[in-house]
Amino acid sequence: AILVGRRVRSRRKWSRVVGVLKELEEACESSVGRLRQVVDAMAVEMHAGLASEGGSKLKMLLTFVDTLPNGSEKGTYYALDLGGTNFRVLRVQLGGQRSDIPKHDVKRQPIPQNLMTSTSRDLFDFIASSLQKFVESEGTSSELSPVRRRELGFTFSFPVKQTSVSSGILIKWTKAFAIEDMVGRDVADCLQQAMTNRGLDMRVAALVNDTVGTLALGHYHDVDTVAAVIIGTGTNACYLERTDAIIKCQGLLTTSGGMVVNMEWGNFWSSHLPRTSYDIDLDADSPNPNDQGFEKMISGMYLGDIVRRVILRMSQESDIFGPVSSNLSTRFIFKTPDMSKIHEDESPDLREVARIWKDILEIPDVPLKVRKLIVKVCDVVTRRAARLAAAGIVGILKKIGRDGSGGITGGRMRVSDSKMRRTVVAIEGSLYTSYSAFREYLNEAVDEILGEDIARHKAVKKKGWYPLRPGIQGFFITCDGGRE
Ligand code: GLC
Repeated sequence: AILVGRRVRSRRKWSRVVGVLKELEEACESSVGRLRQVVDAMAVEMHAGLASEGGSKLKMLLTFVDTLPNGSEKGTYYALDLGGTNFRVLRVQLGGQRSDIPKHDVKRQPIPQNLMTSTSRDLFDFIASSLQKFVESEGTSSELSPVRRRELGFTFSFPVKQTSVSSGILIKWTKAFAIEDMVGRDVADCLQQAMTNRGLDMRVAALVNDTVGTLALGHYHDVDTVAAVIIGTGTNACYLERTDAIIKCQGLLTTSGGMVVNMEWGNFWSSHLPRTSYDIDLDADSPNPNDQGFEKMISGMYLGDIVRRVILRMSQESDIFGPVSSNLSTRFIFKTPDMSKIHEDESPDLREVARIWKDILEIPDVPLKVRKLIVKVCDVVTRRAARLAAAGIVGILKKIGRDGSGGITGGRMRVSDSKMRRTVVAIEGSLYTSYSAFREYLNEAVDEILGEDIARHKAVKKKGWYPLRPGIQGFFITCDGGRE
């Protein structure tokens, strides 16, 4: 009788956990039908963000970048990259021919956690000192002699209201950064000041978002690249827009007739997004509630924490994980790279899952059945994220009339033009490049959504994926018409 009682109790506990999983799966539902609604909402919001300042949660920021490299560039350039987790200093030599692989030296280091919430002075002094060490290590016999004033491109991966191609004001921080005295200040000025203080003779020649850097690199390798997407610690996209479609800036004139727009899609929101109670809690606990809603469902900073919240709930419902570990209540203790390791564990007894769980959460050996459950939770959360990012990408294609459906822009369309137009989207970021399940889900969802378009419009002639260069993937689509 005791044994039967135990079995019944254990079955009941297990069914409660399965109930939590089922609820999660239902709330994360991302059928093609729903994704198509997200596609439409993205295209509509892009339109609204271009129509007026504050017209949408999508800021659709001007970048003042109106031409993109095409492979003919020559010379030595310096670059700084300050994004989510790491900081990089680079020196790149361009040979003037696209086929040359640009030679570059890189110094990469993690951004010390305390600097992310310190003062702008501390942060920029750290950046300037790293740059100084990098430049000093070049020595005097470098190919640069006689030394001219060095020009610097600064990739700063946060929302900036640009005032020119080389200056702009920080609108707000995203991801893990929160340095209050920086908001509203000119980012390039802060860097210039820190370099001057250290006696470093360099000039900030360009200030760009990381998506714009990715678009430039994509275009350098393939001139049909018109949009770029980052899915790393944060997520965002930019694309080449016609100036006359940027209604909020009437009279904007550029030589090319176009300008790159930084969408800041991390802040996109739509009632069609499949939101769970875990997303609501994560948002409420974050330093920026009601902000960056799309990013919080997709990017590397948050996915691990969504999984942690689900498992915490499961462990409260039942003791299948053993006693609830206090670590399981610690925010951001379970990071997305560990999630990808768990997801990719192919050992028959899911050894890696058990190891990570034990190391991070101090939950001792969990049975195989529970390990499988953990993998399943990672799968549901990652799949939703990747499919939403895919819908975002197709949303951009739709806005510019390159998804084969004719677009919704109301701009001049070339639907009757029989000329084939090839469109490339460059995709970068650790989630996409280093988390294979994420990448596969994203690629599959883009195909699924566009597959429907092919059936409906018969305009997409060809599409596929190819490496623009190691680390950057290109997605191309060739279809009839599309906008000029
Ligand atoms: C965040 C930033 C955005 C950046 C993205 C990817 O969303 O706000 O500017 O492009 O992260 O790094």
